[in-house]
Amino acid sequence: MDKFVFATNNLHKIEEIQQIIGTEFEIIGLEEIGCKEEIPETQNTIAGNALQKARFIYDKYQINCFADDTGLEVEALNGEPGVYSARYAGPGRSFEDNIQKLLFELKDKSNRKARFLTVVALIIDNKEYLFEGIINGEIIHDKKGNSGFGYDPIFKPENSDFTFAEMNSEEKNKISHRGKAMQKLIQFLKNS
Ligand code: IMP
Repeated sequence: MDKFVFATNNLHKIEEIQQIIGTEFEIIGLEEIGCKEEIPETQNTIAGNALQKARFIYDKYQINCFADDTGLEVEALNGEPGVYSARYAGPGRSFEDNIQKLLFELKDKSNRKARFLTVVALIIDNKEYLFEGIINGEIIHDKKGNSGFGYDPIFKPENSDFTFAEMNSEEKNKISHRGKAMQKLIQFLKNS
């Protein structure tokens, strides 16, 4: 069975993709290859960071692998927080801090359009492939829902009456940025 390292420390993400991908491929995490160090993410684009993480693991362990990176891009803020989504309110700040900063920055803006972008970078036998997933939506004025993480309580996907935080993970994954990028990765692996 073909084996891939998913360059993430998030066990939930690994379980989730293993479930979708079935038994044809084995997905293992960083812990299983003994990688305990922090993987650098110093690029200024989402794709650049995804590739940097995958490349770091491939170069060090010579094993086929993939990595993902995600950002929330808000139109009225020229694409911010984008690549800085995890630390928008400053280093080490909470999801709540980031949400409050975003709501503050948008308080006088009528254009609330935003999108999540995920890029998955895959390296097989030293060849690189990128897969992109996008969901368009809007930033609402007050938080709604308790599920999910990050900006989920203030992001309402287009054509939906609910925020990501009001959906269960199955409903969210079907339409989400990460779900779409992962589906593209899976189709590619199954066809190659
Ligand atoms: P990562 O690249 O998956 O670590 O995502 C970077 C940051 O984007 C996270 O720390 C969150 O703030 C935000 N983010 C990523 N995916 C989601 C999502 O599905 N919902 C809400 N926020 C997200």
